[in-house]
Amino acid sequence: MKLIAGPSSPLLTKRIAEKTGFKIAETMYRRFPDGELYVRVEKNEDDRYAVVNSLRSNEDLVYMLLIFDALEGSEIFAIIPYMGYARQDRAFLNGEAVSIRAIARLIESYAEKIFTVNIHSMKAREHFRKLIELDAMDIIGQHYKGKDVVMLSPDRGSLKRVRRAAEIAGCEFDYLEKRRIDAENVEILPKNLDVHGKEIVVVDDIISTGGTVVTAARQLSDKAKKIDATCIHGVFAGHALNRLYSSGISLVKATDTIETQVSVISVSGMISEVLIHEVRC
Ligand code: R5P
Repeated sequence: MKLIAGPSSPLLTKRIAEKTGFKIAETMYRRFPDGELYVRVEKNEDDRYAVVNSLRSNEDLVYMLLIFDALEGSEIFAIIPYMGYARQDRAFLNGEAVSIRAIARLIESYAEKIFTVNIHSMKAREHFRKLIELDAMDIIGQHYKGKDVVMLSPDRGSLKRVRRAAEIAGCEFDYLEKRRIDAENVEILPKNLDVHGKEIVVVDDIISTGGTVVTAARQLSDKAKKIDATCIHGVFAGHALNRLYSSGISLVKATDTIETQVSVISVSGMISEVLIHEVRC
């Protein structure tokens, strides 16, 4: 098995290579003057390849497609740590494309096995036949083990995920609930816990625009001692990181499913273990 570091996941691929002992194949990525992309892979026909490439953008998608094509004739495992396009997991309006269905069909037409980390929804997962989904809440929990924090889910829907991380960390947890004060005003507060003077970590699967976490932080800033935000997939659309830091959040942390300056928690160990297991199967 050789690894291919897609343009979006070079550091994560290196970390997986260090843990698995699999070599990284040489690759060349270029852009032509008209914007078209080009891929070349140094390959042997007999090798099996694990392509590591998160789908943060349309460009990542085209690069992935070209990598798959370059590997024509080889067995391919697709490791897509962040599965973009998963939020359009159904047709909300008549005639809409179900984006993740199209992506699933594309990837499955090339790859024998597909690995991802916390795909957006159960519905999105159902569009795949060969998907192995890993849960990064375990490593977020390990990251906070022994720290005196309270983990908060931004809503009830994400509570199950946060509970998992909090149980591993050994800390308290709760979810934020919207309460209507009067016709014009709502407040968002932890459902059960009093967080006065506590160190809070708002835990979410994705931070995209930052809106969800910023809303939570604004409500908690006069109560909590400190507010951090941690997520699995740090999409950070536009200037989301600026927005987060200027809303009173002390520290933003994410995993390396998307590589940014705040990717301080690595999913490489978790992916390496499963990859080694699947290679042996
Ligand atoms: C919602 O389903 C997700 O769990 C996140 O809360 C959401 O994607 C965050 O998006 P944003 O950062 O744009 O508020």
